[in-house]
Amino acid sequence: MIDVLILMGGRSSEHDVSRSSAEGVLGAIDRSRFHPRVVAIRRDGVWLHDGTPVALCPLSGGRAGLIALDSGAVEAVDVVFPVLHGPFGEDGTVQGLCETVGVPYVGAGVAASAVAMDKALFKQLALQAGLPVAEAVTLTPRTWELEGDALRERIAALGLPVFTKPARLGSSIGITRVATVDALDAAIQEAFLHDDLVLVERGLSGREVEVGVLGDDDLTVSPPGQIAFDADWYDFETKYQAGRAELMIPAPIPDDVAERTRELAARAYRAAGCEGMGRIDFFVTDDGQAVVSELNTIPGFTPTSAYPSLMAAAGVPYTELVTRLIELAMARHQRHAVLRR
Ligand SMILES: Nc1ncnc2c1ncn2[C@@H]1O[C@H](COP(=O)(O)OP(=O)(O)O)[C@@H](O)[C@H]1O
Ligand SMILES: [Mg+2]
Repeated sequence: MIDVLILMGGRSSEHDVSRSSAEGVLGAIDRSRFHPRVVAIRRDGVWLHDGTPVALCPLSGGRAGLIALDSGAVEAVDVVFPVLHGPFGEDGTVQGLCETVGVPYVGAGVAASAVAMDKALFKQLALQAGLPVAEAVTLTPRTWELEGDALRERIAALGLPVFTKPARLGSSIGITRVATVDALDAAIQEAFLHDDLVLVERGLSGREVEVGVLGDDDLTVSPPGQIAFDADWYDFETKYQAGRAELMIPAPIPDDVAERTRELAARAYRAAGCEGMGRIDFFVTDDGQAVVSELNTIPGFTPTSAYPSLMAAAGVPYTELVTRLIELAMARHQRHAVLRR
């Protein structure tokens, strides 16, 4: 049996979404091969296993363990599956902890996680790789205060609507669709509540399309799925209230546009140095242009989430998906173990 430590909850605003995602993974994991143990990370950062505070620690012989902080009892951990969304989980921090402890972990490494989490950094990388992205202006509280006039001019050039967003969050939290100039300041302040790096992005119209990717060197790329919803934009409620959004796989778009999203998804995945899994989100404009929106390194695994369904459409059903992710994590660990560094 392989002991798999499933991390869920966490310190980010996406705590509840993560718990729901972890339920999905726990429901699908192959219990004939894997023995899942769950650590629920509280909002204050405390790790609990069966209600007991625990920590991840290195053991001798290159192994890792989960140590109960009250009794000192240690249980072996073969691989960590961080089912965490947002900061302190999807952004390279927990990945860094796993690297430090020396335990294999599912999904992207430290740098790719950090880059993909940061919408401003990811945009730079995507631009450098020649990928089409939406134009945006990036602000900090300091530049907004000191260079407000110049920034306002650049924002005005984006037209309306614009979307204001915290650079490093997800689940649409802190995002506002700004349709009038008067609403801009409040929207930026709202985003600053969540991050001190904020993007003001040109609003795009069209379909929202998502592509799932699985793998390290050999990639399985799903057909695109389209999120259909009856709202101005894909906000938190539309994302997670049952029945508010519908996922259509394959997306009802022309074959060449679908192929283009798959090609761009693989390029974005490689440009960011992603491993394990990723979901690349697009806008497909009415004239058939695909624009890369974002790359999620720990995509949702909730009942309404797209990633498991996309991979199922690519021929990888949920249980096999979880198995492949764990195997990829262990294979990467093996590859790295022989490196001289
Ligand atoms: N530039 C944009 N044009 C149109 N809609 C946008 C734009 N940016 C964000 N949105 C809307 O906001 C949603 C969430 O934005 P996104 O950048 O994907 O952040 P998150 O990481 O929170 O999912 C998108 O699914 C889309 O509905
Ligand atoms: Mg999104």
